[in-house]
Amino acid sequence: MSAISHGDPNIRVLIPEERIQARVQELASEIRAEIGHGPITCIGVLKGSFIFMADLVRALGGPVRCEFLGVSSYHGGTRSTGVVRISEDLRHPIEGHHCLLVEDIVDTGLTMDYLRHFLEGRKPASVRTVALLDKPGHREVEITADHVGFTIPDEFVVGYGLDLGELYRNLPFIAVYTP
Ligand code: PRP
Repeated sequence: MSAISHGDPNIRVLIPEERIQARVQELASEIRAEIGHGPITCIGVLKGSFIFMADLVRALGGPVRCEFLGVSSYHGGTRSTGVVRISEDLRHPIEGHHCLLVEDIVDTGLTMDYLRHFLEGRKPASVRTVALLDKPGHREVEITADHVGFTIPDEFVVGYGLDLGELYRNLPFIAVYTP
């Protein structure tokens, strides 16, 4: 759990690749059990969700549409400024669709809270949410994803899509970054 990885002394593995992959399969089963086996419109929030989204949609199986939303980054370093802005809209209407908002992490909760309302304004049949990681120690808005992969302590994490200054997204595991 605490091995130094990739020769980077600032990185310590928190959730190994095998645990992530196993949990993604479980999440997919939970989500299918809840939504059923009809079409799901998965909406990944860029950039952080792209790896989780890729694994999750394959685990979900059945009819799945893939959409993405760009949200302007307000995490320049390791701190939030609390402003949410859409930088890339959905490519297609979601009216009448069963939607699944796919996030890598819920931290302050501001992004998921904003996007949930944003999607509901497009008249979908339903909106459910999934976050691979939940960091409840940092909440500014009371919100919990409908499906959570792992609850993590209040530490800065990278890997499996999450970055620090655009680096580390390609790590296959989640790691704690300590400068
Ligand atoms: C991260 C993450 C979520 C958001 C969660 O994105 O991908 O979208 O922050 O934080 P919150 O709960 O405090 O709102 P980030 O702004 O780092 O951009 P990125 O996904 O492009 O890395």
